[in-house]
Amino acid sequence: MPITQTREIAAAGRLENVRYAIRDLACVADEVIRQGHQVLPLNVGDPLNFDFQTPPHIIEAAYKAMRDGKNGYAPSPGVPEALEAIRSEAARKRITSVHDVFVTAGVSETVDLCISALVNPGEDILTPKPDYPLYSAVLCKLGIALNAYDLAENDGWQPELADIARKLTPHTRGIVLINPNNPTGSLCSRQMLEQIAELARRHNLVVFSDEIYDKLILEENTPHIAFAAVAPDVPCITFGGMSKNYLVPGWRIGWGIASGDAVAIKPYVEGIHRLLRARLCANHPEQYAIKPALEGPQDHLIEVRRKLRSRRDLTQKWCESTPRMSCVAPRGAFYAFPRIDIPESDEVFVKELIRQKHVMVVHGSGFGQKPGTQHFRIVFLPDEGTLTKAYAGIAEFIRERYESS
Ligand SMILES: Cc1ncc(COP(=O)(O)O)c(C=O)c1O
Repeated sequence: MPITQTREIAAAGRLENVRYAIRDLACVADEVIRQGHQVLPLNVGDPLNFDFQTPPHIIEAAYKAMRDGKNGYAPSPGVPEALEAIRSEAARKRITSVHDVFVTAGVSETVDLCISALVNPGEDILTPKPDYPLYSAVLCKLGIALNAYDLAENDGWQPELADIARKLTPHTRGIVLINPNNPTGSLCSRQMLEQIAELARRHNLVVFSDEIYDKLILEENTPHIAFAAVAPDVPCITFGGMSKNYLVPGWRIGWGIASGDAVAIKPYVEGIHRLLRARLCANHPEQYAIKPALEGPQDHLIEVRRKLRSRRDLTQKWCESTPRMSCVAPRGAFYAFPRIDIPESDEVFVKELIRQKHVMVVHGSGFGQKPGTQHFRIVFLPDEGTLTKAYAGIAEFIRERYESS
């Protein structure tokens, strides 16, 4: 028998503020499922949970790579064929000043590596509020204090330049743009990108432009504008990946495109490569699907966008006709972020909605939002029948909880 009792092992204090609201709600849903109910999942942005299928030629390419023995470690930056395809993709995105490209295990790893390679203790990175929670999680992990700038709801969720200017400190090293945006579905205007570029030049910032949804633009005749195309001189890492555009989130394939003044960005890119080598490599066989995905048939995107437009329109119409709700119409990706006027927190709203109507959305406070406002995020990937049923449940919940007295 050991003479001392094993004591509790505390997690690092830095993790105190790490939240991932999207998955944290799962405990409440599990409770409801255990009671025998079916939950309508409007919470996770995985198209493969719904009526979207991975293009077969992409699966074939990964399968062939496995059969051909591409099962060992890959080169740390990625396999040459994939890197070449990503460079061609950068050219199609009109990014002319490409300095380097590298493959990662999803955009999640690109975010982690690129932020870790830049910030020192005491420095900060500007992140949007609301944001995709991975950014704040990575910063917490590194012990970096959050410095979030507002997106302006009354201006189509564009970054609020005056707030960015207020939040800049002498220790700010970079700024994150998510375009198209999760959770708001907004797109940055060219003018906004130009203004952010000007700010980045003045303050010597690296711009992290998360463009993982760049092929899911829901407006007709509205091309996506890459930040790095607007500002070829500004040090920028453009994040892209296969999860959303090519319907393989489980493969974990993403990439970074480093652009900007070659001399200025060189030491930073070398830092990224040190981390790329330390983590060995990204998933190997799946990298052979990058070229067929980016350069092969794109037909599936027409069908994906058609479905998403119809589901976005249904969602927007419902938001506009439901008491206590308003919503900036989403223009890209598959998220809507309606505002709700209720006398309690949006977290209580969301948890009670799961318990009472078995509909799962995510509370706005899980993404960060302006104090005094409440929102929730809808993933409008499910088919129209499921969405209609879910929206009827939410409307009934609002009526019963806030309107009847
Ligand atoms: C804005 C944004 N960036 C990055 C990611 C992570 O993507 P990946 O699956 O490539 O890690 C997501 C996933 O939902 C996202 O919405």
